[in-house]
Amino acid sequence: MSYHCETMRATRGVVLAGGSGSRLFPLTKTTNKHLLPVGDVPMVYHPIRRLVEAGIDDVLVVTGAHHVGAIVSQLGSGAEFGCRFTYKVQDRAGGIAEALGLAEDFAGGGPVAVVLGDNVFCCPLAPHLEGWTASGKGAMILVKEVADPERFGVARFEAGRLVGIDEKPHAPASRFAVTGVYFYDAQVYDLIRGLVPSARDELEITEVNSRYLLADDLHWAELSGEWSDAGTHDSYRRANKLVDRR
Ligand code: DAU
Repeated sequence: MSYHCETMRATRGVVLAGGSGSRLFPLTKTTNKHLLPVGDVPMVYHPIRRLVEAGIDDVLVVTGAHHVGAIVSQLGSGAEFGCRFTYKVQDRAGGIAEALGLAEDFAGGGPVAVVLGDNVFCCPLAPHLEGWTASGKGAMILVKEVADPERFGVARFEAGRLVGIDEKPHAPASRFAVTGVYFYDAQVYDLIRGLVPSARDELEITEVNSRYLLADDLHWAELSGEWSDAGTHDSYRRANKLVDRR
């Protein structure tokens, strides 16, 4: 079954595979987190395959300087996946929004679908995009109910309306985590330039999404399939179980 749609064809993909992977130490002492196995392939294959399945054939991979050689050796030109890869280096783990800022030239003024390299989605992404593709403007996030929302960006709702997103709140306002797939129009780079580093010294993607929300330009939908990140030992095990069940 094909899930291609017109806007997805024009959309370029961005896979963020930088960061330090410190929460998976010592597995990540010499190996990039995204190259650890999840099921029978490296972790990062899962989000890449979801983008390609959605009809995206130009994909930028952002990774850190220490592991760029291993990432390029593993992923190659993209021929194995049915896409073309471009690579960019993020010099330090300055945050998801900082890594996305490196995609500006690659995106060429068009929309981007961004996936975190440690996220495993058990359903196709394109069917979730209809709300966003109808206008082709603003941004879109997908949320999913989880047992441990305090580990994520968490959606705040009032009367069924999204009114805020809190990054790793101590007292989550809901159990709906913001998953690691995001869709942005070309305004996103100006928003990123306006960010200041958070308390953990990162440019936060939650701050980007909050600014779209403030401008009434943030669409959201609930992810239908199962999902996990794989950035901690517990979630890494969970991601492996999800993939094994398919
Ligand atoms: O998994 C979804 C969650 O991902 C969201 O709910 C949160 O709002 C979002 O902040 C993020 O939370 P984490 O703290 O789990 O993100 P982490 O630092 O683990 O980074 C996730 C991926 O982003 C990682 O696999 C690689 C990429 N990344 C991260 C950083 C900090 C980069 O490419 N560069 C970076 O500097």
